[in-house]
Amino acid sequence: MKGTFITFEGGEGSGKSSQARLLAEYLKEKGYDVEVTREPGGTGIGDAIRAILLNPELSEMGNVAELLLLGASRAQNVHERIEPALARGAVIVCDRFIDSTLAYQGYGRDFDLGLLKSLNSLATGGVTPDLTILLDLPPEVGLERSKALDKAEAKQGEGDRFEQEDIEFHRRLRKGFLELADAEPDRFRKIAVQQDMEETHKMVVEIVEGFLEGR
Ligand code: TMP
Repeated sequence: MKGTFITFEGGEGSGKSSQARLLAEYLKEKGYDVEVTREPGGTGIGDAIRAILLNPELSEMGNVAELLLLGASRAQNVHERIEPALARGAVIVCDRFIDSTLAYQGYGRDFDLGLLKSLNSLATGGVTPDLTILLDLPPEVGLERSKALDKAEAKQGEGDRFEQEDIEFHRRLRKGFLELADAEPDRFRKIAVQQDMEETHKMVVEIVEGFLEGR
């Protein structure tokens, strides 16, 4: 039996990680076999790559190195986590996937979208999400939320390498995500992020339940 592959996408501070966790807990309680992963990361190799990618001290990193590191993390995540989970019929919930590369490296860093799609398919071997939930909010709000979270977790400094990009970068990638969602309405569902995490979670559950029932 083939599983179901669900991804969360969105800008900084959109609450994807919390929503992925809440959804996974909800589905587990309903009796589903659930696998949760994220990108960059999700595997030992991926988490090591993530530490390099996010390190604000590595400001010398070029855009090509960044792109290839993201691709390497994705390839390993598909190989080690996603494909085996799909094969056993699980529901896989992944915090960011191919669309983050199109938004951040395409709209954000100006790489050609065709090139990025080729790299994505090399990394995934053609595995694509069945459902993608885009958590949308203005970047100004998202960056503030992200800063507040870092503070609550007693993290030092001015955010990771991506959070340090200027507001125009974050505006471009929001536009990117919205265009990607419009281009693939069958796969994407868009949610305007609510102040209250539980409210957003309810919207996510409604979408996912409808989707799983229809399969
Ligand atoms: P996170 O903040 O959602 O944990 O993700 C880490 C950062 O990695 C985030 O700032 C976005 C960035 N990223 C990309 O630029 N391209 C990608 O393909 C992925 C998966 C993440």
